[in-house]
Amino acid sequence: MNWQSFLDTFHNRRSGITEEIFIRSHDKEGLNPYQWVEKATPSRGDHLDLCCGSAPLFNDHDQMNVVRIDRSSGELFRAQERGADGLINGDALTLPLRSSAFTSVTISMALMLIQPMHQVISEVSRVMARDGYLNVILPGGGPFLGVSDLRIYRQIAKYGGERTLTFPNGRGVRTIRNETAKVGLAESMDDRRTFYFIAKSRDDAQLFVDSLYLKELPGLEGDQGLKDKILAQILDKGSMKIPLRMLGFRKVIDGVEVTD
Ligand SMILES: C[S@@+](CC[C@H](N)C(=O)[O-])C[C@H]1O[C@@H](n2cnc3c(N)ncnc32)[C@H](O)[C@@H]1O
Repeated sequence: MNWQSFLDTFHNRRSGITEEIFIRSHDKEGLNPYQWVEKATPSRGDHLDLCCGSAPLFNDHDQMNVVRIDRSSGELFRAQERGADGLINGDALTLPLRSSAFTSVTISMALMLIQPMHQVISEVSRVMARDGYLNVILPGGGPFLGVSDLRIYRQIAKYGGERTLTFPNGRGVRTIRNETAKVGLAESMDDRRTFYFIAKSRDDAQLFVDSLYLKELPGLEGDQGLKDKILAQILDKGSMKIPLRMLGFRKVIDGVEVTD
């Protein structure tokens, strides 16, 4: 399957779905994932939110000049509707931005999707100013889930015709570390948190399942019996765990890629 065209179709059909899930998910401190990454990012200067989706980040930060890039026109339409500024329809692989322009960059729930990863990282490093910050949110992975959540995630994968839920770059952590080191980005943070998505209705449970990039696009029918069972289990639990990981980097050298 061509992941990029799947993603384009998915995000044009279900624009804003990641935000719909994340703004209703909270950690033990009561923060949602966006508040978590905002807290870890300097709140002044020139900021790039790469793969911004519906623009959930940095909408109330007066001292930041935010540029937001995504290649989904559906997502950017949602972003525009909420009044987000600095929107650019562009591709993470070839950023239409000048070099060394940004004091900080965020990439929320996208780096595990885009290939080739080295090209995204190289572009991000190019547009970052020296001493700039890069904060990346990624899926945190199975080991941080309880038995019942794991079982439900497996059933959701099965419903979508897969053995497990996967991304083109896996969770990407090893590759991110290799590629950032090559372009002068030094790791400064590795944090993990579990968020709880609250499901009060069958629609909430359905929204959660739809957000998980099942290869059968939302709305197409899989095994109805299995789906009913999944939704009932989510409702019965009342919440689903979402384990996330945040990696942070600082740009320690200027200029071009360092080759081996
Ligand atoms: C899971 S969503 C995350 C959206 C947003 N950052 C958030 O956390 O709510 C992934 C986003 O990456 C965007 N995307 C995927 N591939 C891209 C690419 N090559 N260049 C730019 N955006 C891309 C999708 O359109 C989608 O909006």
